[in-house]
Amino acid sequence: MGYPEVRMRRLRRTGALRDLVRETTLAPADFILPLFVRPGEGIRNPIVSMPGMHQLSVDTLVEECRDAAGDGVRAVILFGIPEHKDAEGSEAWDDDGIIPMSIRALKRELPDLVVITDVCMCEYTDHGHCGAIIDGDVDNDATLDLLAREALAHARAGADMVAPSDMMDGRVGHIRHALDDAGFSALPIMAYAAKFASGFYGPFRDAAESPPQFGNRRSYQMDPANAREAMREIALDLKEGADIVMVKPAMPYLDILREARQRFDAPLAAYQVSGEYAMLHAAAANGWINLDTVMWESLTAIKRAGADMILTYFARTAAGGLQ
Ligand code: PBG
Repeated sequence: MGYPEVRMRRLRRTGALRDLVRETTLAPADFILPLFVRPGEGIRNPIVSMPGMHQLSVDTLVEECRDAAGDGVRAVILFGIPEHKDAEGSEAWDDDGIIPMSIRALKRELPDLVVITDVCMCEYTDHGHCGAIIDGDVDNDATLDLLAREALAHARAGADMVAPSDMMDGRVGHIRHALDDAGFSALPIMAYAAKFASGFYGPFRDAAESPPQFGNRRSYQMDPANAREAMREIALDLKEGADIVMVKPAMPYLDILREARQRFDAPLAAYQVSGEYAMLHAAAANGWINLDTVMWESLTAIKRAGADMILTYFARTAAGGLQ
């Protein structure tokens, strides 16, 4: 049967009918809010390329998280900007570094908030790369211990989950073993499993003050052209013990999300990155698109493609709108 017996418009006639047949829905619990924290007090530095986002200090981070929780946000992911950067990125595993301090404050003030931490070296190294530099390139194996030390510092401070975003080979297994040996076998790992070398990270690198000072990240992040390789990355991270796997960026990589959803049963996260957020805001600021409409459309599309959860700078607005 086809037209005229079949009329697809019948179920689109009213809002209530459309609600009844909607296949994909969003909920506040789907969102993870990324936040940037730096040493100091009373800081709320606007990040120009990411409207509504700020570099915060520990005190204002707690305020922001309290307000976000009021909007219905249940989880945050923290990115740290250290006091000093050095070649090794040593502040990354300092128990009194910016992220451990932030975790302790948040767990004290807002114990129910899920505090996830980004585990990577690029914010802490003076060269801005995601690991130790040997002979002009990021050395994989020398970086693994640095990442494990960073993850352990976050675990000791009380993080609810660690999220390695560096793309070194073997880091999930290495971090898993280090956590287990130190008594943190209950701490889950969310792996940035299929992380592409993307131009859409531009605004983030301003926010986190982490652009590479030479070269680029293509020797460790993935080539945007490769989908089969993304499936291998995800499979390897799961084999090494990842509890949640992530695809990043989100919107230009919906095919990767869909394929990952079909192949793997593990919880799947998608990161709607800074450039995606900046792009929508910039077009809306010009009056070219409606921000609210494209926010819902983009988040729904990411969920429809297969994401169980979405890391997004829209988390507060979206969760608030769903309450
Ligand atoms: C750290 C990291 C980056 C992002 C998350 N973790 C930047 C990068 O890899 O250059 C990007 C997030 C965003 O753009 O919103 N390695």
